Amino acid sequence: MTRRAGTIDRPVALEPVSKGNRAAILALEPLPEQQEYVASNAESLAEAEQDDEAIARAVVCAGRVVGFLMYSAPKDDDEAIIYRFMVDRREQGRGLGRAAVGKALEEIAKLGHIRRVAICYEPENEAARRLYAGFGFVEQGLDEDDEMIAVLELGG
Ligand SMILES: CC(C)(COP(=O)(O)OP(=O)(O)OC[C@H]1O[C@@H](n2cnc3c(N)ncnc32)[C@H](O)[C@@H]1OP(=O)(O)O)[C@@H](O)C(=O)NCCC(=O)NCCS
Repeated sequence: MTRRAGTIDRPVALEPVSKGNRAAILALEPLPEQQEYVASNAESLAEAEQDDEAIARAVVCAGRVVGFLMYSAPKDDDEAIIYRFMVDRREQGRGLGRAAVGKALEEIAKLGHIRRVAICYEPENEAARRLYAGFGFVEQGLDEDDEMIAVLELGG
């Protein structure tokens, strides 16, 4: 992946999945070498439809869908889990991933009942590791699927 110069903080919004943005979400792709790091958005949307606790969001920048994420934040638990996240290969390296994680954490904190956020990624996924470490996520070790779990305690 090429890191582009001039990474800036970019305004992004998270929007619920709707008829209006579904096709754009399905058109997003990771880089070929990243395919093993994340399920396809078609799989994730199908999963979200079957799971009442899945909260799926389009990442939108300047009116365009640039990424997708999914998390759960059960009402009877104080831990949320962000378990899908991707930025389209054509949009990577420009600060959108960082902005989207920031928005997701804001949205989760506003729910009020969540004290900690967990996130999972393949241990060799250096971009994910660095991105999440930048927010203060602390690696906890591998889960039963050999994915790294990292946790952020929400302040306040
Ligand atoms: C991980 C991912 C979402 C990052 O999105 P992005 O928009 O490119 O990220 P940003 O441009 O906001 O970069 C933010 C930080 O991430 C890290 N990062 C992003 N790409 C990186 C790379 N190729 N190598 C190393 N670190 C990288 C850096 O810490 C970067 O901060 P910096 O620019 O100050 O160095 C994107 O690479 C992606 O969609 N990957 C495929 C799916 C995936 O791995 N998802 C995560 C696991 S579910």
